[in-house]
Amino acid sequence: MSPSLLATSYLSAGVLFIMSLKGLSHPETARRGNLFGALGMIIAVLAVAIQVGLATSPIVIGAVLIAGLIGAVVAMRVSMTAMPQLVAILHSFVGAAAVLVGISNHLHPGTTRVGAEHTIHGIETFLGVFIGALTFSGSVIAWGKLQGVIGSRPLLLPGRHLLNLAMIFTCVWLGVVFVGGGPPSLPAILAVTVVSGLIGIHLVMAIGGADMPVVVSMLNSYSGWAASAAGFMLSNDLLIITGALVGSSGAILSYIMCKAMNRSFVSVILGGFGAEEGAAAVGGVVMEGEMVATTAEEVVELLKEAQSVIIVPGYGMAVAQAQHPVREIVDLLRKRNTQVRFAIHPVAGRLPGHMNVLLAEANLPYDIVLEMDEINQDFEKTDLVLVIGANDIVNPSALDDPASAIAGMPVLPVWEAESCIVFKRGRGAGYAGVENPLFFKPKTRMLYGDAKSSVEAILKLLAG
Ligand code: TAP
Repeated sequence: MSPSLLATSYLSAGVLFIMSLKGLSHPETARRGNLFGALGMIIAVLAVAIQVGLATSPIVIGAVLIAGLIGAVVAMRVSMTAMPQLVAILHSFVGAAAVLVGISNHLHPGTTRVGAEHTIHGIETFLGVFIGALTFSGSVIAWGKLQGVIGSRPLLLPGRHLLNLAMIFTCVWLGVVFVGGGPPSLPAILAVTVVSGLIGIHLVMAIGGADMPVVVSMLNSYSGWAASAAGFMLSNDLLIITGALVGSSGAILSYIMCKAMNRSFVSVILGGFGAEEGAAAVGGVVMEGEMVATTAEEVVELLKEAQSVIIVPGYGMAVAQAQHPVREIVDLLRKRNTQVRFAIHPVAGRLPGHMNVLLAEANLPYDIVLEMDEINQDFEKTDLVLVIGANDIVNPSALDDPASAIAGMPVLPVWEAESCIVFKRGRGAGYAGVENPLFFKPKTRMLYGDAKSSVEAILKLLAG
């Protein structure tokens, strides 16, 4: 491939990735954004394969076809609620790739580098392996926690910050030995892999359930920087650009998530966030009152009387796939001139924008779907709130109980409304495993059952 064609391919792929990120920032343009990203990736893979002379290699073609097939099948079969696990495990692949590139690049340098060039290349390799190993092990632990293979409660070892510091200093020392060259360089880089891998495990094991969205976006950012470091090692401009795009957009997403979860960005980057020592999963609040059940008939009466309704969707609505009958209820209520709006918490469900995607899928108009900051002050003026499969995001103990594992996380104050109906199947806790005092409040009624069945029963009565 001629250098100018290669440069054009790299430029086109880079521009397509930027257009993809732009498109993904809004539900209306997300599909197009995805297509731009896929097209950019096809161009990038083809250009690199031709450039390095591997485009006709049967091994490379076979590997791409098999891996592409596995990826397509997994992506088609994965349920929306299991997306974070898939994203986490994909981040681990990027981390593993950076480590493998670093070690193989060290074993087979290709070109001989001397002086400053040798030192710079050593630093690039060290950084790639360090970030890669941390991303790999941290992402595998995040996958385990999200998949439920590892418990979601934070593992808070005594002196964990000192332990992290000691491991980081060990890596820096090993990095100095490695960059210095000489015979110990291979054991040094292998030791960096092990110690950095341990840092990744320790950092993510210390994270509590409700903080997992922040850790996934942070690992997303790390995986980008790992890819960028691999780009430096391989002198591949496109990999550097792509990695930097992923790294910086992941960092911006982490920042947004931190703001939403009321966590400090710096402590997230350093990994020392999540539940503090002594924070119990159940918290210190003693439940007062009792949970009172209601029926679909009673909810329909309340809906007919209400002038203003806010619907709070959560993970349970996604599990039940209740968004379509919910839309039909909204249509009926709007025909009766009832004001209906949705309140979206930034970490509702299991991935950023999860609720927006579900509601868009059911063709709900965007103008009645409001973010937490836009609607939080309206709950006290609202007649009826329907909490459909949400739990942690409407838990008042986040505000009232400093000992709670979700203390400090902003929540939707649904208990301020005239009445609140909670749709859930039983007494199951939310993702963070914290007891929810909302269910015991005098204005709350519990509508037990699968969210879709409950919503359909209400729809039938309302339409009849
Ligand atoms: P959760 O706190 O997970 O609560 C969901 C509730 O839905 C559960 O209490 C469950 O109670 C109920 N439920 C489950 N299946 C149901 C069904 N078929 N029908 C009716 N109810 C059902 O959800 P949330 O309030 O949306 O909060 C999200 C949590 O996930 C937060 O802690 C957040 O930090 C975490 N998280 C979020 C993300 C992102 S980026 N959004 C990523 C990872 C983790 P029953 O079992 O009693 O039915």
